Amino acid sequence: MERIINLQKKFTKDLASSVSVSDLESLHVKYLGRNGQINELFATIKKVEPANRKEFGIKLNHLKRSIDHLMTQKMEETIKSSKSESIDMTLPGKKYPKGSLHLVSYATEEICRIFERLGFIRMSYPEVEWDIYAFDALNMPKNHPARDEFESMFIHDDGNSKKKLVLSPHTSSGQVREMLRVGKPPIRMINIAKCYRRNWDVSHSPMFFQFEGLCVDRGINITHLKGAIEYFAKEFFGHERKIRLRPFHFMFTEPSFEVDITCGLCSGKGILNGLKCKLCKSGWLELGGSGMVHPNVLRNGKIDPSEYTGWAFGFGVERVIMMKEGMKVDDIRILYSGDIRFLEQF
Ligand code: PHE
Repeated sequence: MERIINLQKKFTKDLASSVSVSDLESLHVKYLGRNGQINELFATIKKVEPANRKEFGIKLNHLKRSIDHLMTQKMEETIKSSKSESIDMTLPGKKYPKGSLHLVSYATEEICRIFERLGFIRMSYPEVEWDIYAFDALNMPKNHPARDEFESMFIHDDGNSKKKLVLSPHTSSGQVREMLRVGKPPIRMINIAKCYRRNWDVSHSPMFFQFEGLCVDRGINITHLKGAIEYFAKEFFGHERKIRLRPFHFMFTEPSFEVDITCGLCSGKGILNGLKCKLCKSGWLELGGSGMVHPNVLRNGKIDPSEYTGWAFGFGVERVIMMKEGMKVDDIRILYSGDIRFLEQF
């Protein structure tokens, strides 16, 4: 009888110190297993005096049931509490908002990669520029009406004509700077930068981006200009696109051209589903300006025009993005509105 009481005490202690499911499992083996302590005690029944055997048996059976009951109870509790603490590995993780680059940044990278393959290097020139680089050096003397086309924002003019500061209205301001930097051709520059003009409507934002190509070397002619632009157009827009040069006028190029590209929407037909294409003019879209660098501009860059010739072009980044995506955005200014609902689509 004493041994039964001792076993009960031992079990109570053991149970209290069992905290995990595996503790309880080994406790089960220890007490209720085939060679467990209960069965061990049952095996000694023969040694008990016959008069006491019945009571011994009843007490031991009682202890066995109570051990079983207490253990089952604690097992249930332990499983329950361990479940509430555990991590469900199958649940999806928390998602944090993901940022992305601006549409213009994506396009800038792509344009750079294309021209790099032709041996062009990317350069940057001041956004706030002296008007001599923006105009004078580009064959547009002071008070020349051609300057008006550039709708410039002057930010400093103290009457001293040498010290006029302007928010650069085009990337062409970098042409003569690049000639002076390199000194001796060959020059192959791609300049992608912010430009500013006093324009504010659905198709103009006062700040916009241009990319300018400049190539100067011996024997450069219009076929090189056309070839480089065609390479860009096919790489950027797709191999089915064609370009054409249309005579135009710029002070800093001679001859000058506007570059057109076939419309991606109507495939250059000008007609879509039997109706006039809404995106283009008779199958063509305007890319921007270009031409052979004017001899005066070369001279301003300390390059001898009798030895070297060059070409240049300047296209709008936003424009090529719209043309590539076949997007007809109601208002180009949305690009710079910071409206995440628009921007996160790209
Ligand atoms: N700078 C001109 C513009 O902004 C484009 C251009 C660049 C034209 C280079 C010819 C050569 O309209």
